[in-house]
Amino acid sequence: MRLCPYAALREISNMADEKKLFKVTIDNITIEVEPGTSILQAARKIGGDVAPPAMCYYTKLKGSGGKCRTCLVEVAAGSTADPRPMPKLVASCRTNVMDGMVVKNITSERVIDARNGVVEFLLINHPLDCPICDQAGECDLQDLSYNHGKEGTRYEFKRRTFKKHDLGPYIQLHMTRCILCYRCVFTADQVTNKRIHGVLDRGDHSEIATYIEKSLDNDFIGNVIDVCPVGALTDRTFRFKNRVWFTKPVDAHCNCTKCSGKVRLWMRGDEVLRVTARKDEWGEVEDWICNTCRFERKKVSDWTIEGPTDVSRQSVISQGHYVDVKKPEEFLPEVMGGRHPKLVMDIHSISDVNKVELSELPGPATSKTFVNSRESGVGSQELGG
Ligand code: SF4
Ligand code: FES
Repeated sequence: MRLCPYAALREISNMADEKKLFKVTIDNITIEVEPGTSILQAARKIGGDVAPPAMCYYTKLKGSGGKCRTCLVEVAAGSTADPRPMPKLVASCRTNVMDGMVVKNITSERVIDARNGVVEFLLINHPLDCPICDQAGECDLQDLSYNHGKEGTRYEFKRRTFKKHDLGPYIQLHMTRCILCYRCVFTADQVTNKRIHGVLDRGDHSEIATYIEKSLDNDFIGNVIDVCPVGALTDRTFRFKNRVWFTKPVDAHCNCTKCSGKVRLWMRGDEVLRVTARKDEWGEVEDWICNTCRFERKKVSDWTIEGPTDVSRQSVISQGHYVDVKKPEEFLPEVMGGRHPKLVMDIHSISDVNKVELSELPGPATSKTFVNSRESGVGSQELGG
């Protein structure tokens, strides 16, 4: 049957619109993504542990990535057309997927070994001052070190140290903690449109140049605090006020004329201790916020509170918050080809605690409460123990 010219044209344009998707398998899980997607972004579509850690890549910052090497993965097959493996591990934030590519992240011993090495390298100069660092509890390097760090160091030389530097009334730069990820440089360059700071010198002498001060009058420079993956750039209005896990994060907004006004308030009781931008599940800022919202609106009356922030259960910040705690997705069975991990003991099936509604007891639970619950069956516990 011949199509009329208009229908034929429509068909051709539909075919052009239909994008060919690339199939990629990461840690035994296959997904389809658009051509031009990086391995890191493809892995983030699967989510959970399958997504490699990223210390320098930042979706919203053009040109970021390729500096820290924490996102290394193994490419076991390059593509359907050329299924040879890539000889070296590749930075997943800077390598695009090909059709039929097979990638290994947590299923590769080489990757885990290399990641351990990268963490050891990052910790050569980074001080282990987490007990007094304001970033503790929300520091990417701290999380990475818990997962991949060694208990000791092989480094015998003097570590490089710098004096703390106040960048105006609101920001402090502590270069000793900097891992030279360049995120703050890109932020100053792309968000404030007025980059006056950058990385000076080479190798061991590299540092974020202190003439960052010259861009301090820009309304959006406070965002460098949020993008810094470690505690090198901190909010002077919050420093040493509280540990982040003792504060309660709530989402709030205001009618701001300079930015979206959508922020996260970090509260202790009725006090707003800190204001930051909201971050997504990958720890990246959703909307850049202005300095006025960040540093000058510290009263509850300045904000319309939307409700408690969804905090990942893996985060130490979820300690003590029982509302909207998100259970992380479980990927192990899929990664292990359908096999479930073997449980030595399922505590839920043998514990009497779960058979008693503790919140309904008028007083504290005693051993009598559980004895009675066992005798009378599930759900008919004696109240008042
Ligand atoms: S100060 Fe922070 S954001 Fe800037 S390069 Fe150093 S670690 Fe990265
Ligand atoms: S996140 Fe890929 S190299 Fe840093």
